[in-house]
Amino acid sequence: FKESDKENYRPEYHFTPSSGWMNDPNGLFYYEGEYHLFYQYYPDSTVWGPMHWGHAVSPDLVKWEHLPIALEPDSLGYIFSGSAVVDLDNSSGFGSSERPPIVAIFTYHDAKAAGEGEIDYQTQGIAYSLNRGRTWKKYEGNPVIANTGDIDFRDPKVTRLQREDGSSYWNLTLAVKDEIQFFSSEDLIHWKKTGSFGRNIGAHGGVWECPDLIPMKTESGEDKYVLLVSINPGGPQKGSATQYFIGDYVEGKFIPDDTMIRWLDYGPDNYASVTWDNSSEINDNPIAIGWMSNWLYAQTVPTLSWRSAMTVARELSLFDVDGTYLLKSSPVNTLEDLRKESYTIYESSTLPSQAVEISASVSEGDTFRIVISNELGEQVIISKEMGLVSVDRTNAGNSDFNREFAALHSAPMSWEAEELTIFLDAHSLELFINDGELVMTSILFPSSAWKTMDFSENLKNVKLFQLQD
Ligand code: FRU
Repeated sequence: FKESDKENYRPEYHFTPSSGWMNDPNGLFYYEGEYHLFYQYYPDSTVWGPMHWGHAVSPDLVKWEHLPIALEPDSLGYIFSGSAVVDLDNSSGFGSSERPPIVAIFTYHDAKAAGEGEIDYQTQGIAYSLNRGRTWKKYEGNPVIANTGDIDFRDPKVTRLQREDGSSYWNLTLAVKDEIQFFSSEDLIHWKKTGSFGRNIGAHGGVWECPDLIPMKTESGEDKYVLLVSINPGGPQKGSATQYFIGDYVEGKFIPDDTMIRWLDYGPDNYASVTWDNSSEINDNPIAIGWMSNWLYAQTVPTLSWRSAMTVARELSLFDVDGTYLLKSSPVNTLEDLRKESYTIYESSTLPSQAVEISASVSEGDTFRIVISNELGEQVIISKEMGLVSVDRTNAGNSDFNREFAALHSAPMSWEAEELTIFLDAHSLELFINDGELVMTSILFPSSAWKTMDFSENLKNVKLFQLQD
């Protein structure tokens, strides 16, 4: 362990950079037994700066190994958010079919041009790897998508999609100001704009960022597309958050099922969530991960040598409430491998460590209350009452770094809460109701570790799992 690893608030099982600043997850792909996680990274400071892609790999989405920085800024700009795909058929020609290239596509942010008052300083570039993501070569013809006159023109997410005639193509989803543009390509190098979405729909309290178009199936086998769109500011709990749309996608046009505004996670601290490419060989459903912070206060939270963690990885699926599909985010089942000891509890209990999973079922009625507290009287309260789920961190410890931080966050849930799962770590709480039909993620900075849990009597089968030795 380095000194920085032992610092307060360093999570036990959530991904953090070893030191320095981190924001969005980038370039997620699965290949040969490894889940790759790249991330917006500034190694020289704990606040945002010239962006690199940091890199880590995991066999199971739970244990992460740090690898050297994958992409560094160059004369075209900082390396902003983007995605990566496994080009199995070598459509790009960068590798061979025996040795498929991994192709990353990211936004170049030309800070110098921005500083000089130009508007077209964000473009899209690509890079490829022929050695399982260990080293990357930038394409000499960059940029591959030139700016079309918008200041915000970024965060390309590429997905392999099928046309109705069965042939495949690369689809790219790009955030442009507060709308989405779609592009398509045969070779990941030449891109053609095919459509746009979002002008008259969705939340528009901020700029749209980090989109992801995800092909999914309903329980009855119907094809649907989910479009994730992060927005900053303008989230339901102030600051940044991720909205989603469900609909159909035909030849570059996204047709939403309805005009409702919906949020992937109703807590304040899950942003820029996107999914892994090429993981269908081992997962039935798409897997997403998000940045567990909020642009409102991310750069001032009280950690010293590093800033920000990722959420736990989550499996996405669709479920039906009164004839309408909604998106469910379930904690990935490999998190079960972290369980060390388990305790069944019947009343107020001491928490065995700062890293625990709590599960419970709700009997009698549709209300519940859990209070997690420390020896200093600080507490976080999780409850459902009158159809509103809340996580209250108004008195949950250190909050003087931002006036908006100490707040009560609520979300409407018109259907019944039956089961709860809570993942607690050194500075976070992730609440999953009914295995993720409603999710709230909050970061917390208690002045001493959480010690006690109290809960309403109608919670049954209450279990605590210690997630560390
Ligand atoms: C989202 C974001 C992206 C951008 C990146 C820069 O948090 O603003 O739109 O690419 O962060 O670090």
